[in-house]
Amino acid sequence: MDSLVIKGPASLKGEVTISGSKNTVLPLLFAGLVFDEPFSFSNVPRLWDVETTLQLLKSMGTESQWNKEEGTLTLVPKITMPVAEYEWVKKMRAGILALGPLIAKTGEAKVSLPGGCAIGARPVNFHLDALKKMGAEIAVENGYIHAKAPKGLKAAVIDFPEVTVTGTENLMIAALFAKGTTHLKNAAQEPEVTHLAEFLKSCGAKIDGIGSGHLVIEGGAIQAPRSKVAVPPDRIETGTWIAIAVTTRSPLRLKSVNPGELTEVLDIYRKMGVGFETTSNEIQVIPSEVYKPVELETAPYPGFPTDMQAQLLVSCCFAQGTSRIREKIFENRFMHVAELRRMGAQIEIEGNCAVVKGGTSLQGAPIMATDLRASACLVVAALAAQGTTTISRIYHLDRGYQKLDQKLKRLGADITRLSGV
Ligand code: EPZ
Repeated sequence: MDSLVIKGPASLKGEVTISGSKNTVLPLLFAGLVFDEPFSFSNVPRLWDVETTLQLLKSMGTESQWNKEEGTLTLVPKITMPVAEYEWVKKMRAGILALGPLIAKTGEAKVSLPGGCAIGARPVNFHLDALKKMGAEIAVENGYIHAKAPKGLKAAVIDFPEVTVTGTENLMIAALFAKGTTHLKNAAQEPEVTHLAEFLKSCGAKIDGIGSGHLVIEGGAIQAPRSKVAVPPDRIETGTWIAIAVTTRSPLRLKSVNPGELTEVLDIYRKMGVGFETTSNEIQVIPSEVYKPVELETAPYPGFPTDMQAQLLVSCCFAQGTSRIREKIFENRFMHVAELRRMGAQIEIEGNCAVVKGGTSLQGAPIMATDLRASACLVVAALAAQGTTTISRIYHLDRGYQKLDQKLKRLGADITRLSGV
């Protein structure tokens, strides 16, 4: 397992280009299962989660080829075995996204239950209940979901009890192969869901209400894309770079971004006292000498994203005053707090609320990554801390960020990757 050694405090200079979105490309790759001809993507991020997805698709019969020079990826859709093995799904919970495409395309699916992870139990009951409503027979045995729809799926009105991003994505794909009109109510409105809907629409799908909490999907034929599918920039990587720039007080320029997908994040940082100059695809971060504390709670889009909670929390350590951050999406998403405390952060957890006493400085220390976004927040903390920090289990970071350490080194950070440590 790799570690990162970071000497702080870092003063970074220059501009950074944001990579393609992890949480957009994963559902797009799984959606690829439903097509019959090869097609290609551009701007695909080189991440462990993408590699895992390609291995999982290959195990089901779908080959893929990277063209490293062009940075493109070609999929050759084919399903020889509608099974998503535990071997792959245990590495990446998003493997549950095989369920919708498999049952839609082949009428059956055997998908490993994802199991929990560091941030929570992560059940998939909303996915299963909705598929049952569309006529699927579902059994859960020996850690696997066994789904069958011998007579195909039928349209239904699905009202999700809670917003679920991958649940909405799974059911959107399933609905394309159901006879009639399916309604997805209380659907997730995350940009990644919109990206998937727009991709499917470009392939001939009839989907209304895109970007709203009520999707109306007409079952019908779709064709594989004729031109390369460009993966849009990653809004959470963008937010992570905002946290890096703010927390190290480095006036970084972020390129290949979509500020419109980060309204709530930009607003919260503006409340802290940060300035931003934005264009349609760039963000110039203007740090300030004094940051004000903030109060917020995470929420489904367009609310403040839970995937930015850890990164913002570190920024709040440097505000003058006490901030309160309430995590409303996952039941255990404060694993990073214990590690930050080792660096001198003054954070108390009261139920699902982190109370951050700012005005402290952080000291370098040996710490450990526990999950993807927690590992990103530890990098932010290490860059701003006084002294040397070693972050172990950095594979969590590599799952969701493309070469973050190399991007940081190019901006002047003193950061070294120790392999196998
Ligand atoms: C997606 O996970 C993202 N992953 C997560 O990003 C993100 O944190 C999450 O949405 C919330 O925005 C991908 O898109 C691949 P949910 P997902 O279903 O779909 C409960 C990252 O760091 N729930 O929206 O698994 C669930 O426990 C990752 O990139 C049920 O109870 O999340 C949670 O409390 C981490 N039953 C809440 O709903 C269900 O059937 C939201 O979960 C489904 C969900």
